[in-house]
This record gives sequence, structure tokens and C-alpha cells, in this order.
Amino acid sequence: MGAKPSAGLLRGRGQSYGGCRVRFRWPGGGGEGQPGGGVSPRRCPSGGQPSKVTPAVPALRCTGLRHTFGEYVAVDGVDLEVRRGEVFGLLGPNGAGKTTTIRLVTTLLPIRAGSVEVFGLSARRRPLGVRRLIGYVPQQLSADAALTGRENVALFARLFDVPRAERADRVAEALASVGLSEAADRLAATYSGGMVRRLELAQALVSAPRLLILDEPTIGLDPVARAGVWDRINQVRAGGGMSVLVTTHYLDEADQYCDRIALMHRGRVRAVGTPAQLRAEQGPGRTLDDVFRAHTGDTLADSSERLRNVRATRRTARRLG
Ligand SMILES: Nc1ncnc2c1ncn2[C@@H]1O[C@H](COP(=O)(O)OP(=O)(O)OP(=O)(O)O)[C@@H](O)[C@H]1O
Ligand SMILES: [Mg+2]
Repeated sequence: MGAKPSAGLLRGRGQSYGGCRVRFRWPGGGGEGQPGGGVSPRRCPSGGQPSKVTPAVPALRCTGLRHTFGEYVAVDGVDLEVRRGEVFGLLGPNGAGKTTTIRLVTTLLPIRAGSVEVFGLSARRRPLGVRRLIGYVPQQLSADAALTGRENVALFARLFDVPRAERADRVAEALASVGLSEAADRLAATYSGGMVRRLELAQALVSAPRLLILDEPTIGLDPVARAGVWDRINQVRAGGGMSVLVTTHYLDEADQYCDRIALMHRGRVRAVGTPAQLRAEQGPGRTLDDVFRAHTGDTLADSSERLRNVRATRRTARRLG
């Protein structure tokens, strides 16, 4: 089903759809054929072609994916495959190109070079169909603090055309699946950081996505809250057979929870494998930290870049705190 909007409902501009006042915007254009961004939520799930899901194809396949911002090459020929039912971790230092890759996959950025297929559906040719298949928790927070947990999830149920008759039940199920039933009618402003991230997970899950995409779902959380988020991810995956693409800077999480990982650096994938395979390649007793260092040894090119990324991370962490 549909992907959720990126980058902050709190910062979004008001739009009205059929009497439903929402703050929603697809930044950076809605994929090809959607120049300028704003996509009607009604069209998002139902406006695309019916999604054909062929059994043999992977959940996600990126081939030769490339993206530039002006002269700067952020994603430089990425080949990536997420198999059905697996949790796939995309790791790499700040500025490696992880979020840009995800924004291409979620059709939030137009695909100009290379290809993205979600369950065999081309993100370039069928962006609306692809959105129907994915749920997305962006790196920056997207829950609306002025709404209750239930209202936040109900908004997404409506945005992604969950049938009216099923909406209340599906919203309640999504909230229950992330352990927020009791807090459902409290304002999101009163939630802890871990609860906000779980709420965002519920928002992404309410449309029953086949591919769940999580961009740093545990950033800024304490270890207990991080484990809580991962428990929920694992439960919903086990229950629904979903495939998951996740980025994280926490290598221990990747080691523990990801079936396979890719290490990305300077826009390219440097290594792919199971955590155990990648560790073994570095020698006996090696950790994922060693793997990370081996493939991304040199760090970011310039300090202004590093500063920009640190500021963005701190902003998200502060809002979670
Ligand atoms: N809208 C933009 N305009 C210009 N440059 C951008 C834009 N978005 C990202 N970049 C640049 O593209 C590169 C990759 O950024 P991206 O956000 O994909 O990295 P990332 O791997 O997600 O990093 P982090 O771990 O900090 O989230 C960085 O150098 C970044 O500065
Ligand atoms: Mg990122």
C-alpha cells in the first residue's frame, strides 16, 4: 500500500482533501509524471495501476541507481536487492547516500539514471503502484504532536485509502501491533521518543505494506526503547511476511536484527552479505565495527558536510527527547 509522506507533518503545508484537513506533501516531486510534488492522497493509493506481484521477483531491486544534486553525486551506481521476507540493513557513514537511495525507492525523488523495482514494479514508470506497496518511516520525524496517537494513525489510514468500514479496526490493530493501545488517545506531544517512533511505525503499517522502509528508526533512543522498536518490527514482520529495508548507525542492531546488510560509502555499495559473512571476511573474532571501518575507512570529505549531517541528526534527536 502507499508510502507515507516524508519529512515532517509538523512542517508540511495545509491541504484539504474531501473535508479532511491534512498537512501532507511529497517533497521533491511525486516521481515521474508528478512534477512539483503535491500528490492527492486519494490518488496515491488508488490512482496507480493495480499492483501485480509476481512470485519470483525480489521485494526490491535497484540496478545502476544514480542521483546527483547539482554536480554532487550522492548515489553512484547502486545495485541492491532485498529478498522477500528479509530484514535488510543499509549501513554507512553520514552522507553515504542511504537516505537519498531510500528517497529514490519511495519515489520521493525522480529516478533519472538506473532503475528501481518494487516487487517487479518499476518506480520510474509506476510510482503510484510502488507507493501502494511500501510503508515508509522517514529519518526526520513525521508524527503530528497536536494529534492523538489514534488520530495520527487514522490520518494515514485515510490518506492511503483504507476502506472506511475497516478504518477504525485497522487503526486499532496498527496501534496494538506497536504496543500503543493504552496511549492511543493521548496527544503525541506527551509521548516519549520511543513511543513516537513506534507511532510512526503504526502509521506506516496501517496500509499493510509489503515492503517496510525505515530510515534510522531508532535514532536518539535509549537502548531499551531501541530494543522495543526492533521487537515490534520483528513481530509485524513475522506476522505479515513483510520485507524490511532499514538504515541504522547502530552496528549492534544491524548485527542482531538484519538478515543481510549492505555497506554504503560515498554513494556506492562497498559490501553485501550476512553480518556473519562480512565479519568472517575480515578474519576470526572480527566485529561489524571492523567490517565498517574496512569498507568506509576514510571519512567524510569536508567538515561543512559533516556539520550539516550532525545538525540534522541532533534536530531529530532533540525532538525525540
Ligand atoms: N537535497 C539535497 N541537496 C543537496 N545535497 C544533498 C541533498 N540531500 C542530500 N544531499 C547530499 O547527498 C549526500 C548523501 O546524503 P544522504 O542524506 O543520502 O546521506 P545518508 O547516508 O542518509 O547520511 P546520514 O547517515 O547522515 O543520514 C550528502 O553529501 C548530502 O549532503
Ligand atoms: Mg540519512
